Amino acid sequence: MGDKKRIGILTSGGDAPGMNAAIRASVNAALDEGYEIYGINRGYAGLLDKDFIPMNSAMVADIMGQGGTILRTSRSDFFPTSAGLKRSTEILDEYNIDTLIVIGGDGSLTGALMLSRLGVKIVGMPGTIDNDFGASDFTIGFDTAVTTAIDAISKIRDTTFSHNRINIVQVMGRSCGDIALYAGFSSAAEALIIPEKENNLEEICADLLRGKDRGHLHSIVMLAEGCGSYRDYVKKFEELTQVTTKGTNLGYIQRGGSPTHFDRNLASYMGYKAVEAIKNDDINTVIVQRNGQYIAMPIEEALATKKIFNEEMYQIMKKLAK
Ligand code: F6P
Repeated sequence: MGDKKRIGILTSGGDAPGMNAAIRASVNAALDEGYEIYGINRGYAGLLDKDFIPMNSAMVADIMGQGGTILRTSRSDFFPTSAGLKRSTEILDEYNIDTLIVIGGDGSLTGALMLSRLGVKIVGMPGTIDNDFGASDFTIGFDTAVTTAIDAISKIRDTTFSHNRINIVQVMGRSCGDIALYAGFSSAAEALIIPEKENNLEEICADLLRGKDRGHLHSIVMLAEGCGSYRDYVKKFEELTQVTTKGTNLGYIQRGGSPTHFDRNLASYMGYKAVEAIKNDDINTVIVQRNGQYIAMPIEEALATKKIFNEEMYQIMKKLAK
């Protein structure tokens, strides 16, 4: 290796639309600053397998609008063990990779924190459709997942309306209800079941029946996966409302597709700022968006920042659901 410093970049955990935009931004910004940049395929599992590829600008020229991640991703059980972490640092040393850019959710960034404690320089970006990273206004992929969900819900609403039914629409998000809340808000969903709230089913069904009395004969109920499967609710809703109830799990369509303009912008800024942070030696940080500004926040602090639930949106949604 010459004098050029070498950066590694990987995506980890569940993929998210916009990861490619972040890769493109980091690769081009890094090359522009005179760094070498190696793509690490399949996240931490690929790191342990030395699955590396030197990146150039031609490789990222067409990926801004592409869903998924060209670097692929994985969830590795071995990586976070002490043996896995030690082996990772040895491999990074062997390849003269001085700094690692990690794009992923809190599990992946916790892995990055562990590596930083062993001396690897890290800059992270929150990439997950779940929007469960408290330090950032939004995570890469969330806006696209919500947009995809809204599109699917409008189709489900058509048939739910025609049949005067209830349809329980299950969305992803692990223990975070944001996809259900934001997609439900923008879809005028009639009810919401999310982990952040107690979700009294008797009350929810009584509200739906009051709507029915006013002539509103069908309902969309948004269910966050953190509250269980729609299959656990269908019968209960039928018992409480006497209305035919169906369920739909939107599943993996939420994770795919071309990123929205919002995610492309968010990811491109974060990818660019990650390289800026490396250049300024602002390492062991995560690039987050806070009140619209991009900052490099220490990883530990970012991981410890509590997610604030959008209570106002929840209350407005409830008031508007008539
Ligand atoms: O974290 C992103 C996410 O899509 C969650 O919303 C979901 O619970 C999980 O990943 C699904 O993971 P897998 O792809 O391993 O089934």
